[in-house]
Amino acid sequence: MIDLYEKASAAAAYVSNGTKLRPRIGIILGSGLGEFADAIDDATVLPYSEIPHFPQSTVEGHSGRMVIGTVAGVPVIAMQGRVHAYEGYAMDEVTFPMRVLGLFGVREVVVTNAAGGIDPAYGPGTIVVIRDHINLTGTNAALGANESRFGLAPHTGLRFFDMTTAYSPRLRALAVAEAAAQGWSMPSGVYLAVLGPSYETPAEIRAFRVLGADLVGMSTVHEVIVARHMGIEILGLSLVTNPAAGVTGEPLNHLEVMEIGAQAAKTFGSLVKALIPQIDDATCEARA
Ligand code: HPA
Repeated sequence: MIDLYEKASAAAAYVSNGTKLRPRIGIILGSGLGEFADAIDDATVLPYSEIPHFPQSTVEGHSGRMVIGTVAGVPVIAMQGRVHAYEGYAMDEVTFPMRVLGLFGVREVVVTNAAGGIDPAYGPGTIVVIRDHINLTGTNAALGANESRFGLAPHTGLRFFDMTTAYSPRLRALAVAEAAAQGWSMPSGVYLAVLGPSYETPAEIRAFRVLGADLVGMSTVHEVIVARHMGIEILGLSLVTNPAAGVTGEPLNHLEVMEIGAQAAKTFGSLVKALIPQIDDATCEARA
């Protein structure tokens, strides 16, 4: 039987054959942020349905394709759409794309999501850099026999691996500085993940606030765990789409969550576009 590593290798080989580019930077586009893929030049598009073993997304607003091209001349690979555990996917499926990105050669990934704002200061449209996370989904993506072949560098691919700097301090500093250069101040926050698909109750949100969470969502943490297992550096960005349950007393609805302001999408796009060459440059320096 073909195992997870072999499946991810086959998918990575398919992506390699589909493009001459060898991006070191990946970006996972969350709900409402998919249009960033339109900013990618000379794009090669690979629908998930054509990539061997790739899970197909079922949720509205996640179109399900890889877009490989350049941003400001720097090769990137973007995932437009992701699958979530609440759709019924196993952890290996939810994190399969991150495994594939790593085996394809990606070493830094910008992970983005839509999130509810637990901190009342984070209203709809606020872009927050993720400083840390709390995984309350009740499961872990690295569960099962350890597959050390997923390690991309010495001291990675370990059974027990460090999460103290899961959200790269280097990339966070670059992001905060770039936001400032573009004239705004980006807050940092702790992202708490739930399984979903129900939104939270007001009592849960009050509890999460006590636990130290600023944002709540249904994605990201499993991808980040797998990325850290492999040794991929992560920049996490949340776009707040709504106040979390009970913060304003209004009921939550998914359509509202999808409708982030055009302005927020534009700000997000300018930020990420400017960051990509910096992430790349910093990488070159670090390797020099
Ligand atoms: N809760 C969970 N996930 C979310 C939310 C929320 O309020 N908004 C966007 N994704």
